[in-house]
Amino acid sequence: MTDAANPLRDPRDKRLPRVAGPCVLVLFGVTGDLSRKKLLPAIYDLANRGLLPPGFSLVGFARRDWENEDFRQIAYESVKAHARTPFREDVWTHLSEGMHFVPGEFSDPGAFDALAMAVKELDESRGTGGNYAFYLSIPPKFFPQVVEQLQRSGLADDRKEGAWRRVVIEKPFGRDLKTALELNDTVHRVFPEESIFRIDHYLGKETVQNILAMRFANTMFEPIWNRSYVDHVQITMAEDIGIGGRAGYYDGIGAARDVIQNHLLQLLALTAMEEPTSFSAQSVRTEKAKILSSVRVPGDLTVSTARGQYAAGWQGGVSVKGYLEEEGIPADSRTETYAAVKLEIDNRRWAGVPFYLRTGKRLSRRVTEVAMVFQQAPHLPFSHTDTEELGQNALVMRVQPDEGITVRFGSKVPGTSMEIRDVNMDFAYGESFTEASPEAYERLLLDVLIGDPPLFPRQEEVELSWRILDPIEEYWASRGGLDQYTSGGYGPDSADELMARDGRAWRRL
Ligand code: BG6
Repeated sequence: MTDAANPLRDPRDKRLPRVAGPCVLVLFGVTGDLSRKKLLPAIYDLANRGLLPPGFSLVGFARRDWENEDFRQIAYESVKAHARTPFREDVWTHLSEGMHFVPGEFSDPGAFDALAMAVKELDESRGTGGNYAFYLSIPPKFFPQVVEQLQRSGLADDRKEGAWRRVVIEKPFGRDLKTALELNDTVHRVFPEESIFRIDHYLGKETVQNILAMRFANTMFEPIWNRSYVDHVQITMAEDIGIGGRAGYYDGIGAARDVIQNHLLQLLALTAMEEPTSFSAQSVRTEKAKILSSVRVPGDLTVSTARGQYAAGWQGGVSVKGYLEEEGIPADSRTETYAAVKLEIDNRRWAGVPFYLRTGKRLSRRVTEVAMVFQQAPHLPFSHTDTEELGQNALVMRVQPDEGITVRFGSKVPGTSMEIRDVNMDFAYGESFTEASPEAYERLLLDVLIGDPPLFPRQEEVELSWRILDPIEEYWASRGGLDQYTSGGYGPDSADELMARDGRAWRRL
């Protein structure tokens, strides 16, 4: 039994096909960094992997005086520079034939009417079936204007039988709970919840999805995944880069709003949540929301948070500027580029197990990982000197760049004594699989075009995450310290002190 659209597919298989059907993707903010470095290359990679339909069309919308050819040229350059898969002339030619550009201001109704006309023509000429995804890769202050224009011009109207409309929004989803609710109202005025895809690109990463595979496809981890065995959890997202040319976005936002509110709390949720009843969007999101609503911010934020700003230093043998010297940053800025917080989870599985989250820019190296650090063995039947170099067992999910999982445990050092030292057992993606990992945006864009939502946080998760962060931000704004740390180092001393007060230490970067 097969179906006509895909002869290889068995109609009894209720899973969604992993190939997009006919559609147009409209990209707002096509001249931005994200489009050039991630989105356009991801679209090419999907085409190259045969996952886009033959008539797939991409419409760029921006405030540039461009013709289709200019857009195609920009897209070509970004694909050449950033695509993951090899460049194939035939794939590019086919893809670029479906690329169109509509110039205009977000405030200009005429430009949106032209856009509406352009996509209708594509429906006729390329058989895109009236299915449109709108990707808002633009500063959130323009969201209200754009969604209203989409409604006014009829572009958001999905009354044509069987056709769909989807809108994709990028973080930041507000800058606190209040603004997140306002943003949600704005988008909801035009699009129903099931048409809204909120992108947290960490959820598109293979290694992040693997947290669920590791936990719920195996038997050996689950029995120890709780307060009886786990001493604490460390979630780290360290970057070696500075803010680059993103002063306008970053200043006033800071590390906690930029990545803790979304990427790190999502990592926490996947690590700590209960098993979902299935991998449907509904079940996964329900479990994530449950765990996020059990997170407690410790009462005394003086001892359970730390933040800092990078000062000048050396990185990879090159001298680099401090945050306050970066272009576009006010000399008195109090925006943090490093943040660490200790959180508790009030449920039976995790009561008393602290989750330490840290992130920072201009640190010694780039690494994102989730480390479960286990309790010491209750009794060691060895001499003290033999176990001096034995640390705590740990299971480290290495999100990037060296993707894999490490298990750290004690082992006897070969020789005549019973000396025990920590060793690592490693699983590395590169060694175990011949398949290369798709980029996060490839996976997420495909899911949008297919209409598969489990990897997109729903509004409730966004709100719960702000509920966790808001009191911390308020505390920092009124009283919190802001330490300087040297670029290329390990972050501010206050972050080490936070751990030391609990008798613990961060894993080495
Ligand atoms: C983004 C943040 O969401 O993630 C950036 O806004 C950060 O500040 C980036 O640099 C890191 O992404 P990745 O995939 O390189 O870890």
